[in-house]
Amino acid sequence: MSIQYQKESRTITIDTLHTTYQLRVDPHGFLQHLYYGKKIQGQDMSYLYQDYDRACAGNPDEAYPSRRISFNTMPQEYTGYGVGDFRISSLAVQNADGSYGADFRYVSHSIARGKYSFQSLPASYGDESEAETLSVFLEDPVTKLSAELLFGVFEKKDIITRAVRFRNGAKSNIILNKALSMSLDIPYGRWDLIHFHGKHTLERQVERERLTHLVKTVQSTRNTSSHQENPFVVLCGRRADEDHGDCYGFMLVYSGGFRADVELDQFESVRIAMGIHDDQFAWTLQPGEEFETPEVIMTFTDRGLTSMSHCYHRFIRHHVCRGKYQFARRPVLINNWEATYFGFTSEKLLEIADEAAKMGIEMLVLDDGWFGKRDSDDSGLGDWFANENKIKGGLKSLVEQVNAKGLRFGIWMEPEMVNEDSDLYRHHPDWAFAMPGRVPTRSRNQLVLDMSRREVVDYLYERIEKLFNECNIEYLKWDMNRSISDAYSAVLPAGRQGEVLHRYVLGIYDLMNRVTTNFPNVLLEGCAGGGSRFDAGIMCYSPQIWCSDDTDPIKRLSIQYGSSFGYPVSTVGAHVSASPNHQTGRKTPFHTRAVVAMSGTFGYELDPSKLTDEEKEEVREQIGIFRKHYDLIQGGLYYRLTNIGEEAYEAWQFTAEDRSETLLNLVITDIQPNAALINIRLKGLDPDAVYELTDESAGHQCVIPSEIPYREWRKTFSGAMLMNAGYTFPLVTGDYPAFQLYFRRIS
Ligand code: DGJ
Repeated sequence: MSIQYQKESRTITIDTLHTTYQLRVDPHGFLQHLYYGKKIQGQDMSYLYQDYDRACAGNPDEAYPSRRISFNTMPQEYTGYGVGDFRISSLAVQNADGSYGADFRYVSHSIARGKYSFQSLPASYGDESEAETLSVFLEDPVTKLSAELLFGVFEKKDIITRAVRFRNGAKSNIILNKALSMSLDIPYGRWDLIHFHGKHTLERQVERERLTHLVKTVQSTRNTSSHQENPFVVLCGRRADEDHGDCYGFMLVYSGGFRADVELDQFESVRIAMGIHDDQFAWTLQPGEEFETPEVIMTFTDRGLTSMSHCYHRFIRHHVCRGKYQFARRPVLINNWEATYFGFTSEKLLEIADEAAKMGIEMLVLDDGWFGKRDSDDSGLGDWFANENKIKGGLKSLVEQVNAKGLRFGIWMEPEMVNEDSDLYRHHPDWAFAMPGRVPTRSRNQLVLDMSRREVVDYLYERIEKLFNECNIEYLKWDMNRSISDAYSAVLPAGRQGEVLHRYVLGIYDLMNRVTTNFPNVLLEGCAGGGSRFDAGIMCYSPQIWCSDDTDPIKRLSIQYGSSFGYPVSTVGAHVSASPNHQTGRKTPFHTRAVVAMSGTFGYELDPSKLTDEEKEEVREQIGIFRKHYDLIQGGLYYRLTNIGEEAYEAWQFTAEDRSETLLNLVITDIQPNAALINIRLKGLDPDAVYELTDESAGHQCVIPSEIPYREWRKTFSGAMLMNAGYTFPLVTGDYPAFQLYFRRIS
């Protein structure tokens, strides 16, 4: 068992492969947090907490007359509210008598094999051989509000998940005005915060800053996990880098608004708290009712950021993603969006399919514009019926014709949205969010459907079900193209409007759950104007998410780099698009575009009729390389070899867990005249093994001649050579060249 209770010290200790987490019930029944960090087995860590009389700190009655015990200085597992801890609170409540107070005491705990699950929310999963659950029951003796603190322990994966299940044990209502999933106190150390900020077409940009005594909040109030911040943050030691140093990761399994607050307090102790955003949140708990918070996936390593990322990558692939395509090879697809936008006919689609099939592409995805009156973004959303002016003979016939060419068929939908110019809106105007007396704010000309309403979700499911039953659709791109405003449900009473945003998220999960359960062979690709909902909540249904609407490979480097801190390559939707790029106008080599898109799920998003014969041949070659290295790319260990933007090039690497092979990728982002040689040290190899090099990118760069021609350079290297001395690249000319070097262990 990885969870142990010591009766004498009243400590509960969680041990994973490399970490220890410890909490304690103190003599007054306060649940204290003692330690989370590198493994320390079988020890009572309570010596770490020293209580002193601190001026202006309040003292709970049980401790009277001692002035040394205070919630304001005590490291806690989960805080109370309004009772003397003036740091970030885990929750906020209003009781039936109007008081704003919650004060928890330990009641009991239990330990069970297997991982807890939720009624309404997605979560990571693990069977009895993979996970254990610790539940610690706390109760406010006055109001009878209880909080069951849930800990999911994946010993071998070095992961601990945390969540809370509230229950109202009183005879009257209690309102939760804030209900975070976890808080954690780290009393010692000097820490940096890493977060992943961005915007549309430039998501998950890494920013690292020193903690100061200002509270830092990473948040989204858009009710999407958002382009602007990702629900994943890292606390790392000030000197931590890719290979060294302490790192804590906190990843929320949720797709709506969130907050992560980090406070460095007056005594240099850090508190981090994370969960659903409390903006516009007020949840009424009637007597006997429960409220579940989403979970936070936590890890700790003392071996740097790469090791932390590996931990998340393995965990998301094995315990978050699920279904047929969790591990099965996914199709190389072509999406018509950047090829045609709204302006397509079935003839054009069939032409794309024809060319695509000849090049070895496996699936055609029909993007926005196939339904209702949808020739631009100002109409049609909500009318999920094929537009037969564009799709001659209907969708079923189109799918059959595409299938006859040897291609599978996928489709785009944006279920949560509606245009006012649509039959759906004309029939059900009250299904869209709108506050009484106000015209709702439009965004991309669309309004938001009230997904908190059962009949809305039922209607959408019925449409999707009908489409999938009628046509052989094997993939769904589920898009969502705006932030949510004007949240007001026509069917909830005034006093419960604070539940709408969260109920909306529950509605999405309900719909995604129905679709994936009833159509298990359909591959779901999440999307939200690119990567505005790139989160572990969506990954519970969708093993890949369109990572950004930016398809420029050079800007993509930083998006994919930032994504890689928490999320595996197998979740990163990435396509080769046209040059000049539609978002930036930048011209890049075809080969470079493929090298970058291959560090994702890989597909195309261009008009093949505009490709030259040589480029078509290149597509065949690219698909061949991707297929050859599919398992290595999707399931191998990902190493970031450069810190983004520090050099005139970026490099990264995939290495098999058994160290038998590795793929080294390099893109030169700023070509220099008379340049210094680029030397990259590889990682994760067996120092004693001999590796043989295959240049998968041979002939795709303009190499400057050297005394010995590049193609005759050394081809076998020991792992020690590659890791300690590195590989030196030839000098090249031309904009944005890329290399892809494959090393295979031969002895
Ligand atoms: C935003 C997506 O991210 C794009 O790929 C495309 O599907 C458009 N929406 C279609 O409206």
